[in-house]
Amino acid sequence: THTPRVFSGIKPSGGLTLGNYLGAIKRFVDMQGQDYETIYCVVDLHAITVWQDPAELKHATREVAAGFIASGIDPSKSILFNQASVPQHAELGWIFNCVARVGWMNRMTQFKDKAGKNAEKVSLGLYAYPSLMAADILLYHATHVPVGEDQKQHVELTRDIASKFNKDFKAEDFFPMCEPIIEGPATRVMNLRDGSKKMSKSGESDMERINMTDDADTIAKKFKKAKTDPEPLPESLDGLSERPEARNLVNIYAALADMTNEAVIAEFGGEGWGKFKPALADLAVEKLAPISTEMKRLMDDPAEIDRLLLKGSDRAKEIAEPILQKTYDIVGL
Ligand code: ADP
Ligand code: NA
Repeated sequence: THTPRVFSGIKPSGGLTLGNYLGAIKRFVDMQGQDYETIYCVVDLHAITVWQDPAELKHATREVAAGFIASGIDPSKSILFNQASVPQHAELGWIFNCVARVGWMNRMTQFKDKAGKNAEKVSLGLYAYPSLMAADILLYHATHVPVGEDQKQHVELTRDIASKFNKDFKAEDFFPMCEPIIEGPATRVMNLRDGSKKMSKSGESDMERINMTDDADTIAKKFKKAKTDPEPLPESLDGLSERPEARNLVNIYAALADMTNEAVIAEFGGEGWGKFKPALADLAVEKLAPISTEMKRLMDDPAEIDRLLLKGSDRAKEIAEPILQKTYDIVGL
């Protein structure tokens, strides 16, 4: 039996948020080590499914890479690269466009949310993006996919694509079944001003999200203005069930502190927001400040980031190319 392979990615479609950190990057770091072979990707081909200014895209690609490294992804322990540098992703993605069914894509809730009433005007790439995501994962025969809750449906689609490919081409078990790994208290960090939406890079207003590079004053101000109900924190976890904004802030605290929600409630139950919000802001600054300082330092040398990504893409290709060639062979190409 071989070491299980982990694949996950982040889009360079804007600045990284606390949602990306707690729901994804921090967990990517936790999986790095001897139990898994870890492959992490800046998924720039996914970013262009909506308009990206070319210069900003280049910048964001380096910034996501810097965010990975500053958070603890070690390019000598993990394979770290950007998707466009490994053309095998797009090649396998095309094959999967011919395996996936239009009816499957029509059921993707993220597409419905993103396209909204504008579904006729969005790019074809936005519609097909879950099929490219399946290629990202299966190109490495990865079985473990750490993601936030919003990506669960896309990982399930990946399994459907793998199954149909294996069955159609009588290539039993060629593409393995992968599992979404969705764990910990912060698998869905919510928007600070509108608790019905998830915190996202591409949200409307900057006050809605904590950016990984926000300074201490900005973090304190954003948490202070975060929408909550007026009640103090409950004495037990049950008391959070009908209080989404309160639960979100407790989730964030727990994830940042590596505590359970129970332990946070044991510490802060009965306290008001005037006490909890400043404690949360202090904790976020304590955890994020060293990362954003390191990100800035790395961003001072963009050529070095490009060099690291290129090295990572060479290692990625070594795994990807034989799997793609075998896929072509199976398909008769
Ligand atoms: P975004 O939605 O911010 O543009 P991506 O689509 O690039 O982020 O997602 C990268 C990873 O970060 C995915 O695993 C996704 O599930 C996770 N993620 C994004 N936003 C959140 C959030 N608010 N809470 C938890 N995880 C999140
Ligand atoms: Na997302």
